[in-house]
Amino acid sequence: MKVYNLCLLGFGNVGCALLDLLFEKRDELWEEFGVAWRVTGVASRGLGWLVAPEGFPDEELTYAPLAGLAQKVSPAPVDVKEWLAAARCDVLFEATSLEPLTGEPAVSHVRAGLEHGAHVVTANKGTIVHAYRELETLARSRGRRFLFEATVAEFPVFSLFRGSLPAARLLSFEGVLNSTTNVILDEIAAGRTFDEGVRRAQELGVAETDPTHDVDGWDSAVKACALANVLMGAELKIEEVEREGIRGLKDEDVRAAHAEGRPFRLVARGRRDAAGRVEASVRPEHVSPRGPFASAEGTTLAIHYELDVLPGLTVVAHDPDLTSTAYGLLADFIDAVRGDV
Ligand SMILES: NC(=O)c1ccc[n+]([C@@H]2O[C@H](COP(=O)([O-])OP(=O)(O)OC[C@H]3O[C@@H](n4cnc5c(N)ncnc54)[C@H](OP(=O)(O)O)[C@@H]3O)[C@@H](O)[C@H]2O)c1
Repeated sequence: MKVYNLCLLGFGNVGCALLDLLFEKRDELWEEFGVAWRVTGVASRGLGWLVAPEGFPDEELTYAPLAGLAQKVSPAPVDVKEWLAAARCDVLFEATSLEPLTGEPAVSHVRAGLEHGAHVVTANKGTIVHAYRELETLARSRGRRFLFEATVAEFPVFSLFRGSLPAARLLSFEGVLNSTTNVILDEIAAGRTFDEGVRRAQELGVAETDPTHDVDGWDSAVKACALANVLMGAELKIEEVEREGIRGLKDEDVRAAHAEGRPFRLVARGRRDAAGRVEASVRPEHVSPRGPFASAEGTTLAIHYELDVLPGLTVVAHDPDLTSTAYGLLADFIDAVRGDV
């Protein structure tokens, strides 16, 4: 029996939801996949680099908000490398905040995890936008996996192509990929203010720590870039994604569009042009009640693909929540360790 030492780096909305789901699915992981786990490392800016080489007791991990979690090694690790080594990490879950322009410190965390010899699973899309090829190559060279299913949407994206669409060529995609802007636009359409919309998205736990990332289209641009680079073999940089957020929309236009049944959504697009170059953009667009985004309201997300072997494929996640995000990380964990057992 293999007991995996798990290390959780970043312990906000996603890190907490992942821990809850790991406990909830503990029996399934063991009975269906022969996978057992213990958490030997937990870290965030506030918590520091905590290690329990034999695993933190369940009661310390489940006692919100982890106030009882205590350092079990001395001297305490001072950086990610020391932390991974002290925790004898087998699988690193990286769920720190997004920094769209550099992807740091998440890129360095993932690199350190792979260099240590762990599989790395991340929810941080900055890692794939800024260092996908480097990290994928490093993972392969170490015989480990670098997986990131939770980064773009709360439904299968990368694993769909890896598992069910081998050798299919993606020609274009369009997606409503940001819940925060959906919620804000819905709130404005219902007569409330932009700020009330932001607060509603924060209450739902879908807004980034800094909601300007969502509102100004950075989150969607990073996702478009990630899709283009991983699924279309592009090497787009975030600055090359044409980006317009929802701040410039007038409230009366949002309400009129909603009343006409063609509401605004922040739409991310990617396509290969005639010369074979991949281009991507993010901008507010009217969506049609008969199109693929008809149900993309509230926190519902959708993506529509055009493939060489399939003219149209739409995937919709209806009202995904933090458990759905955590499930992306958990599914990656199972995928990564399946090859080990
Ligand atoms: N929330 C969602 O619905 C969702 C969905 C998909 C993907 N994601 C992605 O998942 C990641 C986490 O999102 P979240 O909602 O959980 O964010 P969050 O609640 O703000 O939590 C972020 C965590 O990262 C930690 N952190 C930030 N910078 C750090 C650093 N330099 N070193 C160590 N720890 C650091 C924070 O520590 P302190 O609290 O101690 O400062 C906090 O524990 C983001 O990359 C986000 O884009 C989120």
